[in-house]
Amino acid sequence: MSPASPASLTEVVLPGRVDPEGLQLRTRPVPEPGPGQVLVAVEASGVSFAEQQMRRGKYYDQPPFPFVPGYDLVGTVAETGAGVDPGLRGRRFAVLTKVGGWASHVLADAGDLVAVPDGVGAAEAETVVVNGITAWQMLHRVAGARAGTTVLVHGANGGVGSTLVQLARRAGITVIGTASPRHHDAVRALGATPVDYRDPDLAARVRELAPGGVDAVFDHVGGEGIVDSFRLLARGGTLVSYGTAATRDVPGSSRAPVLKLFARLLLWNLLPNGRKAHFYNLWAGSRRRAAYQARLREDLGQVLALLASGEFTAQVAARIPLSEAARAMRLAESGTVTGKVVLVSGS
Ligand SMILES: NC(=O)c1ccc[n+]([C@@H]2O[C@H](COP(=O)([O-])OP(=O)(O)OC[C@H]3O[C@@H](n4cnc5c(N)ncnc54)[C@H](OP(=O)(O)O)[C@@H]3O)[C@@H](O)[C@H]2O)c1
Repeated sequence: MSPASPASLTEVVLPGRVDPEGLQLRTRPVPEPGPGQVLVAVEASGVSFAEQQMRRGKYYDQPPFPFVPGYDLVGTVAETGAGVDPGLRGRRFAVLTKVGGWASHVLADAGDLVAVPDGVGAAEAETVVVNGITAWQMLHRVAGARAGTTVLVHGANGGVGSTLVQLARRAGITVIGTASPRHHDAVRALGATPVDYRDPDLAARVRELAPGGVDAVFDHVGGEGIVDSFRLLARGGTLVSYGTAATRDVPGSSRAPVLKLFARLLLWNLLPNGRKAHFYNLWAGSRRRAAYQARLREDLGQVLALLASGEFTAQVAARIPLSEAARAMRLAESGTVTGKVVLVSGS
């Protein structure tokens, strides 16, 4: 261990189904990186919707309790293991982790590192790790959205949603964004036309703005509202479903709402209706590790480059110390934020 690395690390533990205040802080010795690994001194990690589901035991791929949450992080390499270029030390990288990111130090495979361009801050880069990959891939790899088209983005003030809006606008796409009224000014500032997602006439409001239907809908809400999302598509349009936020607080299996959604999407694809329905999964293809890592580097690299050039503005909702993860989680769940709540650690 180099003299620069401390002897112990701090991490946040989710011990079971608890309120945010039930999160625990733990310290333990800093581990040595094994072959092919690096030790990352974490500067920023994100609070995602996934952790809201995980603390309720409602994440589709729920990890067993207790565990350290944290879907993504940005930090600098503190130590390198055998077979890893020692020149990586001191450089800033982003890592998609799914769990484990809410810590001061994290072991990562060197192949999972995505370089953060010089001049981009850790918290700013953090906002586009899981959100940037998800938004970029849904927009460009799944929907194949083109300039001159119109899309509907649900939850346009959220982490993924606000990223999608900016990427779509930059690609010359007109965006209608659903959000609660308190976020309409922020959604407008991102370049989208806001509509209230709680409006019982939401579909009619969208049709007023896009009488011929929209070319793509990005829907993380699921539930019965997904039917309207599909109906709002123009002929040739694409529904990109990527979550079931509507069922976060519904008791019962975490998988049942997703499986019901899959069945619906499958049926819509089989019917001759001239529209397509996809479920986007960030982890699809991750068993073919090298190809998956290369795709992440390419896609996240594109978003980070836009951030570095100033063509994309990071939406940091708040920077909160790692030791106050409970407050960060409460804030992320409050329905009052635009963008991403970021946990910051280090000096
Ligand atoms: N499939 C994948 O691979 C993948 C990858 C990444 C993320 N996701 C999904 O993407 C979604 C967004 O994640 P995030 O981290 O960006 O979350 P976030 O920052 O917490 O934003 C969530 C957004 O959803 C809105 N929302 C919450 N509950 C809702 C409901 N019941 N009905 C309608 N809107 C609701 C929120 O509006 P308010 O602010 O008004 O509450 C907010 O705009 C999540 O559902 C997550 O599971 C999926």
